[in-house]
Amino acid sequence: MSERTLVLVKPDGVARALVGEVISRIERKGLTLAALELRTVSEETAKAHYAEHVERPFFPSLIEFITSGPVVAMVVEGERAIPAFRQLAGGTDPVEKATPGTIRGDFGLETQLNLVHGSDSPESAEREIGLWFPGL
Ligand code: CMP
Repeated sequence: MSERTLVLVKPDGVARALVGEVISRIERKGLTLAALELRTVSEETAKAHYAEHVERPFFPSLIEFITSGPVVAMVVEGERAIPAFRQLAGGTDPVEKATPGTIRGDFGLETQLNLVHGSDSPESAEREIGLWFPGL
């Protein structure tokens, strides 16, 4: 079933010039872009985006990180787009969980600086797309 997911290239991915690499992998997988924007995230949007992690010890540093520089936000569309992008991204920890061949497994070293974000469920995707691209 065709669905949409919210993908972010986080500040570390933008700073390391991996935007093209991420988009290329998305397109080669057969997924398509429905929206794309380079944007510096406000603290308010960052906190809303990561609301489910508010109680975690890493929350303050996660907010500082995600607002530290521009991100590329995208809406990615296609068959099973939500799990398909998570497969491309690899597990959250780029060393312990993500395998080689995935974005995090190929390019990441740290759990926080893990290059990309992808919605984890249809409910999250709807909420996150509404937050980043209202009206889309
Ligand atoms: P993401 O998929 O965007 O969802 C939550 C983010 O929090 C995650 O990627 C990481 O960037 C970050 N994160 C998750 N677990 C940890 C952790 N244990 N320490 C630091 N950051 C984390």
